[in-house]
Amino acid sequence: MAETLSSEHYSPIVIDHFNNPRNAGPMEDADAEAFVTNPVCGDSMRLFLRIDRDCNGDRVAAATFLASGCPATIATSSVATTMVRGRSLDEALTLTRDDFADAVGGLPKSKVHCSVLAAAAVRNAITEWRATHG
Ligand code: FES
Repeated sequence: MAETLSSEHYSPIVIDHFNNPRNAGPMEDADAEAFVTNPVCGDSMRLFLRIDRDCNGDRVAAATFLASGCPATIATSSVATTMVRGRSLDEALTLTRDDFADAVGGLPKSKVHCSVLAAAAVRNAITEWRATHG
């Protein structure tokens, strides 16, 4: 049965990010990228980051995403791109699934796991970038 987007289940912020995802789409010449998926439900997310290096350290200059899945996955992916932008890589790595879930006004109990995708994508993209850029 197809999932319905009901305000009884989702916060207005989830509905807003689902209907108007921020920073959706691929990024040309991304510096870092990560693809994560939940094998149980099949939701997936691809995160693209542009990373600036300067004397103040490495920083996320821009973030975009592609996601396939439920409204909670789309919304937490969307909000994650807005939250990592402008942060140092160390700061971005401190963001947790709870931070993303809180930023969309909380998630229904059955959807809390959806915020894991965004958190894992941020962690994987930055970790992989650091492994190749020192
Ligand atoms: Fe599984 Fe959204 S339903 S990640």
